Amino acid sequence: MLRRVSDDVTEALRAEQQRFEAALAEVNDADALYELQVQFIGKKGSVSKLRGRMGKLAPEERKAFGMAFNEVKKAIEASLEGKHRAIKTLQREADLGRFEDLTMADTMSPVGSIHPVTRTRRQLSRVFRKLGFDVVDGPHVEHELYNFDKLNIPADHPARDMQDTFFVNGPAGETDSNLVLRTHTSPVQIRTMLGRKPPIRIVAMGTVFRKDDDPTHSPMFHQIEGLCVDEHVTMADLKTTLYRFVGAFFETDLKVRLRPSFFPFVEPGAEFDMECPFCPKDDAGAKLPDCGVCKGSQWVELGGAGMVHPKVLQACDIDPQEHSGWAFGFGIDRMAMLLHEITKLGLLFDGDARFLEQFPC
Ligand code: PHE
Repeated sequence: MLRRVSDDVTEALRAEQQRFEAALAEVNDADALYELQVQFIGKKGSVSKLRGRMGKLAPEERKAFGMAFNEVKKAIEASLEGKHRAIKTLQREADLGRFEDLTMADTMSPVGSIHPVTRTRRQLSRVFRKLGFDVVDGPHVEHELYNFDKLNIPADHPARDMQDTFFVNGPAGETDSNLVLRTHTSPVQIRTMLGRKPPIRIVAMGTVFRKDDDPTHSPMFHQIEGLCVDEHVTMADLKTTLYRFVGAFFETDLKVRLRPSFFPFVEPGAEFDMECPFCPKDDAGAKLPDCGVCKGSQWVELGGAGMVHPKVLQACDIDPQEHSGWAFGFGIDRMAMLLHEITKLGLLFDGDARFLEQFPC
């Protein structure tokens, strides 16, 4: 039988189809699949080029070839589509597999948590910033001049003994360095007043050190100190600020009271208490007497406060005739214990992970 031109072209078409199927079996990703598509049925692809040969066929041969061409092209397109779906499915499964790996608990490294004291410090600084205070810091190793002398605590004053001081040798081991581990945050008052002029509104927070070590005292603990110096500053401003502070911090209206007390750097001096925010209440909102925190007294002691002593202002080159100021200070650890119902001070400093893990980020 006479061989027709269309037989050759159709054969070439089938051969391309086979070449395509063989190449397709090797393809595993979307990029390679796209390349294959271009190579065979793209504008200049090998299969598309065969279509150009249709013009050279006798009119009666064209129909058969045209049908064969369409059939092959459709088959190739269907195979490409099938492979495309298979690659996508594989990709999704691989992604899901990776996702599963990430959540496997035993392959994750432990994530730390925020220490209750740090958490309380952050809360305090948020509240005091809102009340218009700058948060400032000072050194832990301090000159006796700033820790005591300029705070109106002269060398022979019993307050120096009261504060069970750690003395620090000088850089070359000198024992008369006059350096101490700061016993309170009050030297930051001095540094601030020497460094800036009134109006001053700061809080200083941080670690302080005293030789105490018993179940309710730690040789290292944390204090916050507030200082305001301006013209015509009074004790009423102090009390209002403390009232605003406890209200903002505990997010409820709490009374504040001042009781006369002595601190060498303030005159008059006071201790301040707040109304107990922890007392259980009955259904009508009345406080019940059996509160574990205030022991039924309805007051919680917070710290010391008072009007900055004129001698302290003078020691910092501030004229007490022109300016007055107040200061307060209290323990941050006790505040953290109150907030988180922590019953033993030692728990805050032992670094026991079983305790710390209870305060997730
Ligand atoms: N510095 C005092 C102390 O450590 C607290 C205090 C600060 C008292 C400011 C009065 C005014 O005990």
